[in-house]
Amino acid sequence: MKKTLLSILRDRSTSTVNFRKASDKLAELIATDIKTHSDEVVLIPILRAGIALLYSFLQCFQSARVGFIGVQRDRKAQPVLYYENLPAVCKTDSIIILDPIIATGGSTLITLEKLTKSGSSPENITLVGMIAAPEGLEAIKQAFPAIEVKVSAIDKGLDDRKYIVPGLGDFGDRYFGC
Ligand code: URA
Repeated sequence: MKKTLLSILRDRSTSTVNFRKASDKLAELIATDIKTHSDEVVLIPILRAGIALLYSFLQCFQSARVGFIGVQRDRKAQPVLYYENLPAVCKTDSIIILDPIIATGGSTLITLEKLTKSGSSPENITLVGMIAAPEGLEAIKQAFPAIEVKVSAIDKGLDDRKYIVPGLGDFGDRYFGC
């Protein structure tokens, strides 16, 4: 099922409507697989693409608090933090970071730095994605070896624009239709 949904997402001819349907379904399946250490769950979607996972995760973690991190790429594909609204967190909270695409890992690293500086324990952080590049996963593992990473596919690598190959293009553009 996850494989079929990923194929729909990867297909460049998939319409926005069908892309959203496949993404929502995949997010639902991923969410039901997540086991947390604590009932105190904090969901952190990384704007903008992470918003696409939020609704499905809220169906599973109905009492979760939600914090937001906004990271965009500059012209050199470097991550730049432009928005931050995180709830107070404590060591024992289960934190779930939502980002469908983990390419360079830059957005995740910024988010992890913020969270650990404000008291989260890496052992209680799960990063959830749909497609990842080995480069991004390696960078995250080097900096934060204790976090749990749940992705549905690991692709070949990054192109010179730091997009995942084969990937699915720009997730946010395809999900939000612009
Ligand atoms: N963001 C995306 O949406 N896709 C990529 O391949 C890389 C970053």
